[in-house]
Amino acid sequence: MIRRSWFWTAACFAAVTVTASAQTPTPAALPQQNAGADQAQIDQGKVTYAQKCSHCHGPNMVSGGAVAPDLRRFPDDRDRFITTVKLGKNNRMPPWGDLLSDEQIATLWAFASSRRTP
Ligand code: HEC
Repeated sequence: MIRRSWFWTAACFAAVTVTASAQTPTPAALPQQNAGADQAQIDQGKVTYAQKCSHCHGPNMVSGGAVAPDLRRFPDDRDRFITTVKLGKNNRMPPWGDLLSDEQIATLWAFASSRRTP
């Protein structure tokens, strides 16, 4: 019986949480996933991405995954992103360490983070 009532309490909380978040007004201008990131950085990263990465990873990071992975699905792992971008991977992903500054790579990360889909 104790377990059962726990279940209902939890279910009740969950329902309340869902209802509450459904009623929270979302700011129209900023998609939630951009929250906290600097919009200027994201814009910069978008430009660099279009020049250096989009022919493999797809325009605006939309990729079928045939040539290169869809970066919107890349995990929230900044170190792995920066290491791969600098050093390349498996002789398929080219290394960018000599071509892009740390700052440019940081803007690419900002852009990738803004595009992440769960
Ligand atoms: C010549 C095509 C090509 C270009 C250009 C390219 N990539 Fe890639 N990228 C790949 C391929 C292929 C992979 C998959 C590598 C593997 O896992 O074997 C990859 C993988 C990745 C990964 C995932 C690495 C991991 O740890 O799983 C990231 C992040 C990435 N690329 C970012 C970028 C960024 C940022 C740029 C632009 C600066 C870029 N790529 C340009 C082909 C490319």
